[in-house]
Amino acid sequence: MSPRKIIIDTDPGQDDAVAILLALASPDDLEVLGITAVAGNVPLPLTQKNARIICELAGKSDTLVFAGCDAPMARKLVTAEHVHGKTGLDGPTLPDPTMPLQDEHAVDFIIETLRAQDEGTVTLCPLGPLTNIAVALNRAPDIADRIQEIVLMGGAYFEVGNITPAAEFNIYVDPEAAKVVFACGAPITVMPLDVTHKALVTSERNAAFRDLDTPVGRAVADMTDFFERFDKEKYGSAGAPLHDPCVTAYLIQPDLFSGRHINVE
Ligand code: RIB
Ligand code: CA
Repeated sequence: MSPRKIIIDTDPGQDDAVAILLALASPDDLEVLGITAVAGNVPLPLTQKNARIICELAGKSDTLVFAGCDAPMARKLVTAEHVHGKTGLDGPTLPDPTMPLQDEHAVDFIIETLRAQDEGTVTLCPLGPLTNIAVALNRAPDIADRIQEIVLMGGAYFEVGNITPAAEFNIYVDPEAAKVVFACGAPITVMPLDVTHKALVTSERNAAFRDLDTPVGRAVADMTDFFERFDKEKYGSAGAPLHDPCVTAYLIQPDLFSGRHINVE
């Protein structure tokens, strides 16, 4: 079977980084058409830079990386340096990127790609606030029917929130965008905190990353050592929740997950 075509929309973020690394390391399963950066964990200049740092760490400097929206649709940007550090990728020491940022705006890339590719063959994988996706849908409503599936990390069902007692960060930052995406009519699979808080990087698992003894393994172990502080302190978790990699894992091995078809507004 040919690899599934995906666009990763992201606000790296250590967990975004692992999601991207897993996708780029799975060419038999996933064809990454492009990576679109959005403001979220840290401001856009950093998320677009971090996306390129991660592609170069993966040895995939030919990946197309685009910068998108630098603020939510209708409110001030809220960032999460308290979780991800000042750079958004605190933990490892990684070189500044040399690969180019594409000139085209991320929203235009999303629209053009969905129009150019056969209908129902492109999956959108939002890992941050939904601003880029919502702006694309508002600007080009015709793309909604062309999307194979949206597989996103966001929200919380029975789980408490992580940015307020009730709200999960990605949805909280741009709820107006979330409203547009959840109403667009495309098939949507959601990985809420109820799922991602079960995907914890315990110290044994982090040791396994480090024991890979590769630049990627060491970088991921260093990212996780930094990223886990917030959740350990807040929830007493046994390790860092790998929120965004649940999206990539679902695309590669869906039977790792179970869920229900429900209405979300
Ligand atoms: O709430 C977790 C989500 O917010 C993850 O996508 C993390 O990267 C942050 O963006
Ligand atoms: Ca993210």
